[in-house]
Amino acid sequence: MRISKQRGFIKVEQADKFKPILKSRLSEQRYFHSLCVADEAKRLALRYGGDPEQAYLAGLLHDITKNAPAEEHLKIFAEFGIMLNDVEKKAKKLWHAMSGAEYVRHILRIEDEAVIDAIRYHTTAKAGMSHLAKLLYLADFTSADRDYDDVDVIRRLVDESLEQAFLYALQYSIKDLVENGRAVHHDTVEAYNEAVLKN
Ligand SMILES: [Fe+2]
Ligand SMILES: [Fe+2]
Repeated sequence: MRISKQRGFIKVEQADKFKPILKSRLSEQRYFHSLCVADEAKRLALRYGGDPEQAYLAGLLHDITKNAPAEEHLKIFAEFGIMLNDVEKKAKKLWHAMSGAEYVRHILRIEDEAVIDAIRYHTTAKAGMSHLAKLLYLADFTSADRDYDDVDVIRRLVDESLEQAFLYALQYSIKDLVENGRAVHHDTVEAYNEAVLKN
């Protein structure tokens, strides 16, 4: 009992200590979004299982490089050997997930691979996503600050079934990309195929 309390205490402190750097790197709106995703990821972990403090940390840091200029992403990719495929080269929106994962690992010195992996795949998703990565992916859709066409549908679904909500969110993302004439990342296609075959 005492050990788990202690571990919980350390993790909360760990998350809090990153707030100043996060705030310095993000716009006010993006910082607020990060706090909302952290709260939502924690809420989903409490509902569906998982470590709520780990989910909070992943939510807090998931967009840490979102407001970075292109040069900073490219510098991180070069420094840590990240090669972009054709879809990634074109879709700059995906860059912050790749650079963010490296940033939290190498600069913030986060050692929790599950947190790093969840951040890495929070935009594209992938087949074989971890439970934590699904919590983060969905928390990014259903956080309190979100406002888009289907937000109420996904919010209702996420309280009914994590897997149904995950499938719906993937369908929503793919539809949006196709309607806007954009390429769909192969990780997203594989995540969708896995989810639709399972449901
Ligand atoms: Fe993001
Ligand atoms: Fe986000």
